[in-house]
Amino acid sequence: MTGRRPVTFVRPTLAVVAACVALLAAGPSMAAGDVEAPKSPGFSFQGPFGTYDRGELQRGFQVYQEVCSACHSLKYFAFRNLRSIGFDEVQAKAIAAQYEVMGGPDEEGEMFERPAVLADFIPAPFANDNAARAANNGALPPDLSLIVKARAGGEDYVYSLLTGYADPPADVELGEGMDYNPYFGGGQIAMPPPLFEDGVEYADGTKASVDQMARDVTTFLTWAAEPDMEARKRMGIKVMVFLVLMTVLLYMVKRKVWSDVH
Ligand code: HEC
Repeated sequence: MTGRRPVTFVRPTLAVVAACVALLAAGPSMAAGDVEAPKSPGFSFQGPFGTYDRGELQRGFQVYQEVCSACHSLKYFAFRNLRSIGFDEVQAKAIAAQYEVMGGPDEEGEMFERPAVLADFIPAPFANDNAARAANNGALPPDLSLIVKARAGGEDYVYSLLTGYADPPADVELGEGMDYNPYFGGGQIAMPPPLFEDGVEYADGTKASVDQMARDVTTFLTWAAEPDMEARKRMGIKVMVFLVLMTVLLYMVKRKVWSDVH
C-alpha cells in the first residue's frame, strides 16, 4: 500500500511541472501578441558600469525641446536640471529665459507672464489633458518624465518606437489619423512619426539622422527618469569591492582561529 503512494504522488507533480514549464515557455510569445520585441541600439548607460554621455544628453534635450515638447510635457524637469546634464549656469539661464511662465501675484493680486528662471519647471504644451486630447485626434500624449520606466522594454522600447514607423502590412486597416508602428501595442499609434532626417540642427554639429535623434532623446529621457543612475552604480561597485575584501578578511580570520584544531 505505502509503496504505491509515492508513485501516485510523483506523477501528477511531474505533470504539473511539465505544464508550468510549457506555460512559461509559451508566456512571452502569448503576452507579446502581434507586438514586435524592442531592438537595442546599445546605449552607453546600459550594463553595470554604464554612464550617460553628456553630448547625447544635451542633444537629446534639444530634440525634446524642438520636437517632442510640441505635444508632450516633461513636468518633473526644472531648468536647473540643465546643469546636471552639462550646461553651465549662463547657458541654462539663457535656455530658461526662452520660456514664459505664470508669475505673481503682483501688488494688485494679478498674475502675469514672466521669463522662466532656473527654479521653474519646463512649461507643458497644453493647459490640461482635455486640450491635449483635442489637439491629438483624441489620444493623450503622455508626460515623458518617467516614460522610460513606465514601459516594458524601457529605453530599448522608446528607441524602437521612434525608429519603428513603417508602411502597414496589407492585412492591417489603419484608423483615421493613425500610423503603423509594430512596436506599439495593437500596431496603430496616434502619434505621427516625430523624427525626420535633419529634423533638428544640432548645436554641436552632429549629423541629425533619425537614428541619432532617437538615441539622443531616449538617452535624455532615461536620464530624466533616473538621474541618479550613475551614483547608484558607483555605490554598487563600492559595495561589491567591500564585500570581496570582507570575504578575504573573514577567511583569513577563520584560518587563524581554527589553525590548531585538527
Ligand atoms: C504631434 C504630437 C506629438 C509629437 C511631436 C510627439 N508625440 Fe509622442 N505621442 C503623441 C501622442 C498623441 C501619443 C499617444 C499615442 C497613442 O496613445 O496612440 C504619443 C505617445 C508617445 C509615447 C508613448 C507610447 C506608449 O507606449 O504609450 C512615447 C514614448 C512618445 N510619444 C515619445 C515621443 C518622443 C520622444 C517625441 C519626440 C521625438 C514625441 N513623442 C513627439 C503625440 C506626439
